[in-house]
Amino acid sequence: MKTICVLHSKIRRCRKCRLCTGRKHAVPGEGPCPAQIMLIGQAPGRSEDKTGRPFIGRAGKFLDEMLTEAAIKRSECFITSAVKCFPPSNRAPKTDEINSCKPYLYEQLKLVRPKGVVLLGNIAQKAVLGTDRTSQRSVVHGTNTSFHRKLGTGNRKPITLSGITYFPTFHPAAGMRFPKIARNIVKDMHKLKMLLKR
Ligand code: URA
Repeated sequence: MKTICVLHSKIRRCRKCRLCTGRKHAVPGEGPCPAQIMLIGQAPGRSEDKTGRPFIGRAGKFLDEMLTEAAIKRSECFITSAVKCFPPSNRAPKTDEINSCKPYLYEQLKLVRPKGVVLLGNIAQKAVLGTDRTSQRSVVHGTNTSFHRKLGTGNRKPITLSGITYFPTFHPAAGMRFPKIARNIVKDMHKLKMLLKR
């Protein structure tokens, strides 16, 4: 049986896409396995690339604060990102990079067997659900017409697939810029807490 450690050493050696040439460390993720809660971000930033650990930079500290507000312990969550290597100049991951990394994310989902998954931002949503429900793009094509209206009402409905409930929300980096977004992320984390109590 494949263990999470075996999978993570494979990720650390991965050369499937161009991101392997610029990385210092691949960042597979960390946390208990199995775990009831899984958090999925976009891609490692500079601090994560330096250390090989997920969400330890500024966005990570902010994420920690939001977890605390929702009374969730970071140590009880399995934390990872859709893309495991740092994109140069911190640019958004490209579609082919997301696709190269997808099998690793799906293996992690199988091994971690979470009850609830928080999808932090549109890249995580695209990788897992095939849609980007909270992004500006979905606003342009959807029913909301203003970005500010979206801050309050973005389509963040939880969705349950094969026994796992996914909570699409914003990336903590967006929460750092807009307090209303931060409040909505915490709200979504509270919804997850409710699910775990059931
Ligand atoms: N942003 C992410 O999406 N993941 C990290 O690990 C760090 C920042």
